[in-house]
Amino acid sequence: MYRVAVIKGDGIGPEVIDAAIEVVNAVTGRISFEYYEGGVETFKRHGVPVLEEDLEEIRKSDAVLFGATTTPFDLPGYRSLILTLRRELGLYANLRVIPDFNDGREIVIVRENSEGLYSGIGSVVEGRAVDVRLITREGAERIARFAAGEALRRGTFLTFVHKANVLIGDRFFRRVVFDVAGEYGVDVKEAIVDSFTIKLVRDPWSHGVILSENLFGDILSDLATVHTSLGVVPSGNYGEDIALFEPVHGSAPDIAGRGIANPIGAILSASMMLDYLGLDGSPVREATRRYVLRGNLTPDMGGTATTGEVTRGIISELIGAIEEELWVEEIRVGRIPTDISRVG
Ligand code: NAD
Ligand code: IPM
Ligand code: MN
Repeated sequence: MYRVAVIKGDGIGPEVIDAAIEVVNAVTGRISFEYYEGGVETFKRHGVPVLEEDLEEIRKSDAVLFGATTTPFDLPGYRSLILTLRRELGLYANLRVIPDFNDGREIVIVRENSEGLYSGIGSVVEGRAVDVRLITREGAERIARFAAGEALRRGTFLTFVHKANVLIGDRFFRRVVFDVAGEYGVDVKEAIVDSFTIKLVRDPWSHGVILSENLFGDILSDLATVHTSLGVVPSGNYGEDIALFEPVHGSAPDIAGRGIANPIGAILSASMMLDYLGLDGSPVREATRRYVLRGNLTPDMGGTATTGEVTRGIISELIGAIEEELWVEEIRVGRIPTDISRVG
């Protein structure tokens, strides 16, 4: 059994995570889910966004599944739960994959997840507020390696998006990216972030693996969803020891509690988690795509379906595929080589 720590969060977080867990349970019985609380309420009661003893247990899990939490703008001493988890679990690489269900194409963004403008270093002193945009050699190298590895795996190049015409940090980052990519034999294209936003909207599919600093990656990944919906985009946050999977969207307070949140971002995040665990997330991705091409979708995608209807629709596609292929769970999602299924 694999142990997966689950933090549903608030707003639509619990709605979409419940959907993702239903889908996972439809493909494998090998995951035991353990539930933890966190966020503003925990902070108000205990002074921390997540309890230290819970964090200890979460660290021992095989992976984490996370929904979303609301972060108030003005709660003194509070740091958002997801930023706390990324830091505490050493999750330095954020892989965000924006799907095109019609053609099977993807926009792939690797967002540096631990430094840049999210360094957490800063101060307000005598009428001056400072946020330090930290780029270290170690941080730049490890994210460049992650992105180059992803480009190699996908048989493509890197597009490094920066503001090296202005920022000292991005000049330094850029050098490291070119050096590491050279070592990996991966081609690098580059673009300046402001004009790149236009290319990303007009011609989203031709940038290989996009690599950028933390805040630029945050903004670019939401922007990249304009041809689809923010609600369908999954992500994996990877570190040396553990990974956390979460939809890219937030807690969406404007639609929370109405049963209309799009569960696909959370479901596809769970499929990335299956891959990470050494199981196989591809049946979930294929079932999702088949459902999107013919099913009724949630309102963010122009439909009238509820979260539950989409989730059940994806599960029926999965079950259909299982029956059609005489798909045996032990073989399809197990660690047993697939060849065994062909024996006899
Ligand atoms: P958001 O992603 O929550 O919502 C942006 C828009 O997209 C809203 O109109 C929302 O209704 C829509 N949307 C998002 N997800 C959807 C889904 N699954 N189905 C249908 N529509 C969806 O961003 P925001 O409004 O800027 O932020 C709201 C709160 O979420 C803030 O407190 C923010 O800090 C938090 N947030 C949390 C996380 C996280 O915990 N990982 C991520 C992003 C934002
Ligand atoms: C995201 C979110 C978070 C971020 C917020 C909620 C701290 O926008 O995961 O994209 O900025 O990283
Ligand atoms: Mn964001």
